[in-house]
Amino acid sequence: MKILVTGCCGFIGSNFVRHVLAKHKDYRVVNIDKLTYAGNLENLKDVEGDPRYEFARGDIADEKFVVQLFEKHKGEQFDALVNFAAESHVDRSIMGGDDFITTNIEGTHVLLKAGMHFGIPRFVQISTDEVYGSLHLDDPPFTEENKIMPNSIYSASKAAADLLARAYFKTHGYCTLVTRCSNNYGPYQFPEKIIPLFVSNLLENKEVPVYGDGMQVRDWIYVDDHSEAIDLVLQKGRAGEVYNIGADNEVANINLTKMLLRHLNKPESLIKYVQDRPGHDRRYAMNSSKIRAELGWRPRVDFETGLERTVKWYLDNREWWQRIKSGEYMHYYEKWYGNR
Ligand code: NAD
Ligand code: DAU
Repeated sequence: MKILVTGCCGFIGSNFVRHVLAKHKDYRVVNIDKLTYAGNLENLKDVEGDPRYEFARGDIADEKFVVQLFEKHKGEQFDALVNFAAESHVDRSIMGGDDFITTNIEGTHVLLKAGMHFGIPRFVQISTDEVYGSLHLDDPPFTEENKIMPNSIYSASKAAADLLARAYFKTHGYCTLVTRCSNNYGPYQFPEKIIPLFVSNLLENKEVPVYGDGMQVRDWIYVDDHSEAIDLVLQKGRAGEVYNIGADNEVANINLTKMLLRHLNKPESLIKYVQDRPGHDRRYAMNSSKIRAELGWRPRVDFETGLERTVKWYLDNREWWQRIKSGEYMHYYEKWYGNR
């Protein structure tokens, strides 16, 4: 199995690469990543020397670059493409949507076109529960039949990409599959997202900014469980289908915050309620019975264990997030490229 993955110097992609290389001795992985602020070569430092792993710096929205890469591999073409690359942070999309449109929509389109043209047998688009919009407290969790009702520029751009994947299947019969997962947590998550931001702030005895009343609900899944689900969809998912992925683990932000305070033995006085996020989705919850029944997937890590493991990782890897928070991690690129 030779797979082209994109955006794997980020959080989920780097965990996915580590996961599949450890699990399948016969997988080879080529990773293209633009190395935006969220891409960090340190996230895959441990597999850099693995002959089954190759990295190419590039932009998925740059058609010339993408086509050249496929041309280079023409002798032994990829068996599949998994598109993780995206602008992923809702708050940044409020500040400005341009990069979201370019990468999440145009970039996905470039990959779909090239994937079909070069005959890549399977195309997996990594999407999100946010495309379904927001639930009321008494609504049932999202199924794959729910309407697409995105509320942020981020989720609207992801929804557009999902629909392009669908259109390539319907129009051209190209084998696309879409996964929609809930909120991930685990090692190597960029400290702008709630869990790594709060853990790293607390470790520095800084306040943690809770948006609005803190009663918004997210459905948390450990990143390795997401990787396992993607790998199953990649191998056995049905062409043209959407698969929801979630671990049935809804937690209100304020409760999550208090759990983190307890893990780190910090006082509640460090909680700071701040102005709410504009257009803030109230609740996400996923019904993942389809992937469980069809592909036999189930999450293995319960929230208590996963959170403890995650907090420990940020405690043991202070330098990783301190380098990010200081901006120093960018220098790693120069070192890396200097050696090549
Ligand atoms: P991330 O922000 O940590 O990483 C994104 C990666 O994509 C970075 O390495 C970045 O350099 C790269 N990238 C950005 N623009 C690019 C471009 N134009 N060309 C090539 N590479 C580019 O994101 P993440 O949290 O790991 O999310 C990965 C994917 O999973 C995204 O598609 C996201 O929408 C989806 N997703 C995330 C979550 C979550 O909880 N984090 C949940 C469900 C789905
Ligand atoms: O649901 C899947 C999505 O989860 C992914 O598609 C996105 O890429 C990923 O960023 C994430 O989106 P959220 O907006 O849910 O994640 P974030 O960590 O930014 O926020 C989680 C919740 O915490 C949300 O209700 C906003 C709140 N929050 C967030 C931050 C950063 C705060 O209260 N304070 C904060 O400082």
